[in-house]
Amino acid sequence: MLSEQDNELLTRVGPGTPMGDLLRRYWTPALLVSEVPTPDSDPVRVRLLGEDLVAFRDTNGQVGLVGENCPHRGASLYFGRNEECGLRCPYHGWKFDASGACVDMPSEPPTSVFKDKVQLKSYPTHESGGIVWTYMGPAEKMTPFRDFGTETLAPEHVSATKLHTTCNWVQAMEGNLDTSHISWLHQFNGVKDIQDDGSDKPGYPSNPMSWKFWAHDRAPRLEVEDTWYGFKYVGIRTTPNGFTHVRMSAFCYPYHTVIATVPFGCRQGLFVPIDDENCWRYSFTSRNVENPQGIGGANLFSVAPFKFGRAEVNGNGIIPREYTAENDYGIDRDEQRHRTFSGVAEFVSQDLMVTESMGPIYDRTQERLGTSDKALIRMRRLLIAAAKKVAEGGEPPAVDPDLDYRSIRSAEKILEEGEDWRILGTNDDPLVQEMDVDGIPASTPTTRS
Ligand code: FES
Ligand SMILES: [Fe+2]
Repeated sequence: MLSEQDNELLTRVGPGTPMGDLLRRYWTPALLVSEVPTPDSDPVRVRLLGEDLVAFRDTNGQVGLVGENCPHRGASLYFGRNEECGLRCPYHGWKFDASGACVDMPSEPPTSVFKDKVQLKSYPTHESGGIVWTYMGPAEKMTPFRDFGTETLAPEHVSATKLHTTCNWVQAMEGNLDTSHISWLHQFNGVKDIQDDGSDKPGYPSNPMSWKFWAHDRAPRLEVEDTWYGFKYVGIRTTPNGFTHVRMSAFCYPYHTVIATVPFGCRQGLFVPIDDENCWRYSFTSRNVENPQGIGGANLFSVAPFKFGRAEVNGNGIIPREYTAENDYGIDRDEQRHRTFSGVAEFVSQDLMVTESMGPIYDRTQERLGTSDKALIRMRRLLIAAAKKVAEGGEPPAVDPDLDYRSIRSAEKILEEGEDWRILGTNDDPLVQEMDVDGIPASTPTTRS
């Protein structure tokens, strides 16, 4: 439970809010590279942290991210002409380059120097891992771009998606971090029929067996460990054979999550506020090599009866929403009674059903938290403390360029006798060292929440 004041502080991200000021100190995803595919391609509307912007790729290939409304009399530059290294307003022809400078003002006399005094709001951009990132904080306090493993990613391995979620970014992220709900929301009757394939023993279980463990012990014990990037935590479950199974996920300031994966994972899920009541869930690959040892067995989802919204449907990385609040997420009561716990056919829409139905900004003065909510309590506390620190003139956490952001990983394993879960997925984990490729530990192909 949070006070009304803390809930406001945690969730509101517009200009001038404490949390908005904290988030603006990090490079943040603004849009997918695929949305501005080629020089002089169509401008794109971008709403980010409550600000209305327009993105365009100029003739030289540079991506501009500028205020949507023309500084002359406010027409939307989304309708502008993207031509010859600038975006030209359709109303009176004023033209702005990617830095927001007014480079042409043809509606004024040729002798006028007025254009030199006009500046359109603009933010710097950096392309990495299929995402156009931006920095929206004070220029004099610009923090370095953090490399989560995308800067050296081969083009053929770049994979980024985004999914629109109609609720506040924090509650969407809480849903993703929450390890206990996988024993409930995502369950289905067939789990009990999964045959024991022998991986219920210390080591890495097959993915089908993971489903079995989540269904077997539905009240995981949580342990949280603070780290330089935020925290990591495990949900501890007892397997049918009596072993200790852990799912470890990581939270990195300000909205990054890496969700438990066998044997360990690097794929990032980011909950980026569009405004206070909407967010994009970005996801991107950060490694070149996918699970070379095949640990984890069959694809996690091959055993589940659920559909998955595929980004390829649109071809541009934006995952379409088939199931929404308007159609009650397609809930099928017969399915819910007889086959699946949720009655919703698509895996991610199961998550969206529960997080969006909490309301656009959940009133956390009303909640009753239990022991299985320990991790999200920690996440809120860290974010609130960081926002207060920055509001008092302090520096945001986890922005040092010398830190190795590529080493933030999740894990899932059945522990050996005496094994400490805190080593899993770190650079000290023998498996991470063994899978090292060109000095960069490998990625695994599956993620889940
Ligand atoms: S409103 Fe844009 S040029 Fe006049
Ligand atoms: Fe989930």
